Amino acid sequence: MSMIKDEAAVIILFGATGDLAKRKLYPAIYSLFREGQLAKNFAVIGVGRRQLSKSEFYAHIKNALELFSDYNVDEEFNEFVSHFQYLSVDIHNTMEYQELLNLTLSLEEGYNIAGNRLFYLAIAPELFEPVSFNLKKTGLLDNKGWKRLVIEKPFGKDYHSAQDLNHKITQVFNEEEIYRIDHYLGKEMVQNIEVIRFANAFFEPVWNNRYISNIQLTSSETVGVEARGDYYDQVGALRDMVQNHMLQMVTMMAMEPPSRLKAEAIRDEKVKVLRSIRRFESAEEIHQNIVRGQYNSGEIQGQSVSGYREEENVSPKSNTETFVAAKIMIDNFRWSGVPFYIRTGKRLPQKATEIIVEFKNLPNLYFNKQKTLEPNLLVIRIHPEEGIHLKLNAKNPGTDGTILPISMDFCHKNTVEGRTPEAYERLIKDALEGDSTFFTRWDEVSIAWKVVDPIIKEWSNSDFALHHYRAGEWGPLEAKQLLERDGFKWWPVYGEDPNRRKKECSL
Ligand code: BG6
Repeated sequence: MSMIKDEAAVIILFGATGDLAKRKLYPAIYSLFREGQLAKNFAVIGVGRRQLSKSEFYAHIKNALELFSDYNVDEEFNEFVSHFQYLSVDIHNTMEYQELLNLTLSLEEGYNIAGNRLFYLAIAPELFEPVSFNLKKTGLLDNKGWKRLVIEKPFGKDYHSAQDLNHKITQVFNEEEIYRIDHYLGKEMVQNIEVIRFANAFFEPVWNNRYISNIQLTSSETVGVEARGDYYDQVGALRDMVQNHMLQMVTMMAMEPPSRLKAEAIRDEKVKVLRSIRRFESAEEIHQNIVRGQYNSGEIQGQSVSGYREEENVSPKSNTETFVAAKIMIDNFRWSGVPFYIRTGKRLPQKATEIIVEFKNLPNLYFNKQKTLEPNLLVIRIHPEEGIHLKLNAKNPGTDGTILPISMDFCHKNTVEGRTPEAYERLIKDALEGDSTFFTRWDEVSIAWKVVDPIIKEWSNSDFALHHYRAGEWGPLEAKQLLERDGFKWWPVYGEDPNRRKKECSL
């Protein structure tokens, strides 16, 4: 069997005029093109409901790149866009797929592509099933090369609906052909977690409950629900962020070293972590370990903003959470007794994604008699500035044993040449190369649903506590108390503490 990866493919992009394509997918494909990372003979068919002429479609792509690409839209744009075609298809009308098949075949012939097809469904999840079946019925999957399906979240709204969806699409595509996107896994620093852990002699030996006291994972946003009120009000932060992105980051931090650096071996280890997460069964346990919040009106970075219930397409009586903080316990030998605190929310003071590992203090023999010594911290900064920050203790020069917290910083932008690729660039390239490491396998998705399902169930009871917070604050007070009860505190994230952080990445 040849070991050369055959990446040249026709990308069939459903949802070509949608928001995701505009903000993320065209800019990602353009960056790959500019960096010479795409096969020379790639082709893209944009599929949408609207009727668009070729020039209108090209103008749409151009506009997307002007708004969202890191690269200039210059003379190379014409060559880039010449690889794109547009087709208006009624997704439910099987007859219309015939034209899609004809166009795919003619592009394969024109570009000399060996029948490889990447179906990217940037559309509402309820359409995954009809599209998959129609692709099959019309012979679009009877190709000679490989076929892959890339799908966006949400994958179901609970375990049963996810299982049902999975059952349907696996009648058409094999598990190995399904690439479920969790875009957090495409983020450079999330991928860097395994390198930080497994390539550094001073981290791996202390990466356990003997040396780590707790781990804090924050993904905070300043935006509200924007134009997505109708979607978000049905979903809430638990399904939108926790079931996928937050739990995925937990698994990357907690997994055992894989037997090999291969997709299945890595995903096997992540599944083990998910299985070891302690499930909350009773309302009482959920009360104690999870905080559900919703923003009221307030102020963000000097601007007044309205409350969640006043947002467009949100019910004025909505109990949907826009904030979740939780204490997660992983019941295995490595992590027994170490809380993983997660928090995520909209309308918080900073946009930041960060993981902070707090180490246990050394015995109080010398420098910590007054118990004022701050613990060592390892901060993995995922957004906005990518990097690693270590907080250590050192002697204050010239003093007699006064201890000063000092920091060591590694900032991508100051250390690594070139730009850091966007999550979608990496993921599209991986899908074209057939590398599914940073996509979620069905067992990961299903166990993650089993972790959050009991919480969803309890929260559907309208009496369950919903704590309100002012927009621009770090969620409700209860989120603070969640850690205080255990003798911990949330460490400030990037930009939150100007004194501590202002020098970071400022070179
Ligand atoms: C998406 C959620 O998956 O992630 C959004 O649906 C959220 O609600 C977004 O805003 C956050 O992603 P990022 O990359 O900006 O942290």
